[in-house]
Amino acid sequence: MITKRNKKLLKILLIFKISFLVCVYYTHLKLNDSNLSNYKIENNFYSYLIKEINKIDHYNNFTNKTLNNPKDIFKILYEHKAFLIDVEILNQTKSNNKSSNNNNFNFGIYFKQYYNLLNYLNRSNCNLFNINTNYVNLSIPSAIYLKCLHNNLRIQISAIYDRGDFLWIPRDNFKWPNYRKYFNDKTRSLNHFKIYQVNFSNNYKVYKPQNIQKFLYDYKNSEFIECNYDLAKYNYVSSGYRYRQNLTKNEIVSTKLDYIKQIIESYHKDYWLAGGTLLGWYRDCGMIPHTTDIDLGLLSNQHESRIKQSFKGNLNMPLMLQFGYKNDSYELRLGNNDLWVDLFYFYDYNQTHQWCAYQDKRIKKRRFVSKLNNLLCSAELFNRKYLVPCRVEKYLNEEYGMNEWIRPQDKNYTWTNVFYWKNWTDSEWINAVKFYDLNGNFLNNLTQQYINKYL
Ligand SMILES: *[C@@H]1O[C@H](CO)[C@@H](O)[C@H](O)[C@H]1NC(C)=O
Ligand SMILES: *[C@@H]1O[C@H](CO)[C@@H](O)[C@H](O)[C@H]1NC(C)=O
Ligand SMILES: *[C@@H]1O[C@H](CO)[C@@H](O)[C@H](O)[C@H]1NC(C)=O
Ligand SMILES: *[C@@H]1O[C@H](CO)[C@@H](O)[C@H](O)[C@H]1NC(C)=O
Ligand SMILES: *[C@@H]1O[C@H](CO)[C@@H](O)[C@H](O)[C@H]1NC(C)=O
Ligand SMILES: *[C@@H]1O[C@H](CO)[C@@H](O)[C@H](O)[C@H]1NC(C)=O
Ligand SMILES: *[C@@H]1O[C@H](CO)[C@@H](O)[C@H](O)[C@H]1NC(C)=O
Ligand SMILES: *[C@@H]1O[C@H](CO)[C@@H](O)[C@H](O)[C@H]1NC(C)=O
Ligand SMILES: *[C@@H]1O[C@H](CO)[C@@H](O)[C@H](O)[C@H]1NC(C)=O
Ligand SMILES: *[C@@H]1O[C@H](CO)[C@@H](O)[C@H](O)[C@H]1NC(C)=O
Ligand SMILES: *[C@@H]1O[C@H](CO)[C@@H](O)[C@H](O)[C@H]1NC(C)=O
Ligand SMILES: *[C@@H]1O[C@H](CO)[C@@H](O)[C@H](O)[C@H]1NC(C)=O
Repeated sequence: MITKRNKKLLKILLIFKISFLVCVYYTHLKLNDSNLSNYKIENNFYSYLIKEINKIDHYNNFTNKTLNNPKDIFKILYEHKAFLIDVEILNQTKSNNKSSNNNNFNFGIYFKQYYNLLNYLNRSNCNLFNINTNYVNLSIPSAIYLKCLHNNLRIQISAIYDRGDFLWIPRDNFKWPNYRKYFNDKTRSLNHFKIYQVNFSNNYKVYKPQNIQKFLYDYKNSEFIECNYDLAKYNYVSSGYRYRQNLTKNEIVSTKLDYIKQIIESYHKDYWLAGGTLLGWYRDCGMIPHTTDIDLGLLSNQHESRIKQSFKGNLNMPLMLQFGYKNDSYELRLGNNDLWVDLFYFYDYNQTHQWCAYQDKRIKKRRFVSKLNNLLCSAELFNRKYLVPCRVEKYLNEEYGMNEWIRPQDKNYTWTNVFYWKNWTDSEWINAVKFYDLNGNFLNNLTQQYINKYL
């Protein structure tokens, strides 16, 4: 017996697997002109910063206390809820106690507390550098660098901004000799984290991230890149304001994507926005309006069966389909027929390239891209943080052809990096596709029906 949903599943598989999906033609969008003025492509963070910067009363909290020794400085940091984000100390590759010769520390402080702290630290007899940096055309605080000559203490205190649902930390050009910057070296972002108080050496009280492993996992992929607002605006305007985001749909996508991300991140696995999802983020600062699928890449060598298990029978994002095997052409499809998410495993091919599968009935194809070499970056999509390939334009050029992706297409797009590989053998084919129902049960009948069709 085949239920209505399963019939639909089968249909989706047959229709959509064979068509090369993706770019949408804006000429086909029917839009109500009266809505046009409601939509703007805007960097919300920039608007937020302008407001925040203007709100700050720079010098209203002075103290007369002179800060002479590290203990007092640490106390001030503690009292302002600055927290240790020193990657080397947290990763225990550098000692945190006074008897070792480490005199370098990196703290973070929320922007709202920044100037207040600065005023206190300004009273120390250490050299203080308050470094600003540019964001778009705004000058914003980046970090305080404090160097105490009498005891060689060097403290970097990075300004941490709230952005969307995450934290954002700008870069600056400040350098100290023999000092490696882990923050403010690049623009970075992190997920929010809880802090807790610990006793440091000599009874300094210090705040530290509670979940250090998660902090370090986040840090690894923390370099932040912006979507291309100029390009998004250009395409929007040059289409006569017709090529634009469907905000209702974006909200739905955002919730689902975030849900999946939380699960993958809770296992500390690397993933990235791929295919049309990456293109939508970068080119449109949103989503390609008419796509029905979302693509994520995962590294096959980070395989964990927990990922599949988490989605079997999942109320929010149920596993619909599994293609291939974990060591060959693996792909999990989650969601429903209106909107699904494909998780593609990427396999190493040679020194420079990796591939993911593109399964077309019984034919195995491979989609090649350059290896990411652990270079994933953070990005903002619908106010949330996701991981993307750091060299995003290179990646898009490889997927869609050199600069072919820059303008929305007026024809269906064909991947330029998909190549025929081989057909599944009879014995492989029998288990190369698996359908699941909403409760996570394997759908034997439906699967058999599909397998037999091509046996
Ligand atoms: C599968 O097919 C068999 C025979 O056609 C039928 O008896 C059985 O109920 C079906 N099972 C499901 C889960 O649809
Ligand atoms: C700082 O010290 C000066 C004189 O030493 C005093 O007049 C002033 O009130 C003090 N300010 C504060 C905020 O304590
Ligand atoms: C402090 O650091 C030194 C040198 O790295 C180490 O030998 C010592 O055990 C550390 N002490 C504490 C309390 O961590
Ligand atoms: C100055 O100090 C007061 C009281 O300690 C505090 O409420 C206020 O937020 C501080 N101002 C700034 C800019 O941090
Ligand atoms: C430190 O305080 C002095 C006034 O006492 C002020 O002129 C100077 O701008 C302050 N420096 C910083 C970096 O805030
Ligand atoms: C920044 O640019 C915007 C226009 O993009 C302009 O309105 C604003 O005045 C500029 N701000 C500064 C500080 O130059
Ligand atoms: C920190 O040290 C103080 C004083 O030595 C002690 O009372 C307190 O329990 C310690 N706290 C933690 C979390 O170890
Ligand atoms: C933490 O240290 C290990 C080696 O001890 C290193 O492989 C890893 O990259 C470090 N993590 C970070 C975030 O620096
Ligand atoms: C926007 O998306 C919603 C939800 O997917 C859909 O119902 C609606 O038809 C879409 N609007 C347009 C103009 O495409
Ligand atoms: C790796 O394979 C890709 C895709 O076939 C190819 O373009 C590239 O030249 C190969 N690299 C090396 C080092 O062989
Ligand atoms: C692969 O399968 C397709 C259809 O599924 C078939 O047309 C083709 O001949 C097969 N190729 C080989 C090499 O078996
Ligand atoms: C593009 O693909 C869709 C879905 O597969 C199909 O319905 C449509 O006819 C195609 N359009 C063109 C111009 O090829």
